[in-house]
Amino acid sequence: MNIILLGAPGAGKGTQASMLADKYHLLHISTGDIFRANIKGGTEIGKLAKSYIDKGQLVPDSVTCDIVKDRLGWDDAKSGYMLDGFPRNIYQAEQLDKFADVDICLNIDVDPSLLMDRICGRRVCSCGESYHISTLNGATTCKKCGKELYRRADDNPETVAARLETYAKQTAPLIDYYKAQGKLVAVDGGKGSPEEVFDRICGRLDKLI
Ligand code: AP5
Ligand code: MG
Repeated sequence: MNIILLGAPGAGKGTQASMLADKYHLLHISTGDIFRANIKGGTEIGKLAKSYIDKGQLVPDSVTCDIVKDRLGWDDAKSGYMLDGFPRNIYQAEQLDKFADVDICLNIDVDPSLLMDRICGRRVCSCGESYHISTLNGATTCKKCGKELYRRADDNPETVAARLETYAKQTAPLIDYYKAQGKLVAVDGGKGSPEEVFDRICGRLDKLI
């Protein structure tokens, strides 16, 4: 089963993807995580990606599509994956249709008024865990591995505003794209805790997987 996770910045794609990947035994592939790993590693792709990510813009399609096409060709992707953050515009979706079979597009729908607080309050760990400051009770270290938490470089109000605009203009049209293909599953990701949203999503996916 190959699933695309669609949703605005801060909708909860990463939070849900790691839980869903565990439950349904799917490989979690996040293009944002791939770019951040490249930035940390100082690669040429990382340098290029940073110049776009810092401005809240999409990294060029040619680079992004090549990375995803290559990653989906690895053996560990053969038994199903969950794509988090790709595709992000119609062109990327059309390219994906050429090299992959998408079964479901899961859209996590969240009221835009909630997104700025969710993102600016996010703290992440290098182990991959993510938290919101409202649940940390002042803690500054990861509950799982004990490392110091930090704020993503693009989680500042100016960049978040640009990311939300990019989403509205370029990514939101994908909802209709996948609806027309009969693959869209839309779930309310704004009401309730991450666990409650997870249960809501599983209630829909259990009938399809
Ligand atoms: P990416 O890393 O994908 O960022 P994003 O889409 O902006 O989404 P986020 O990771 O910020 O949010 P999320 O939906 O994962 O939410 P999360 O679960 O963390 O991309 C970054 C950049 O890379 C892009 O801007 C672009 O430049 C580039 N890029 C990536 N893919 C690309 C592509 N295909 N093409 C071109 N460029 C690309 O949750 C957010 C917060 O909310 C957390 O604090 C969490 O704890 C909290 N939260 C989650 N669920 C709930 C809940 N139910 N209730 C309350 N709080 C919650
Ligand atoms: Mg994410």
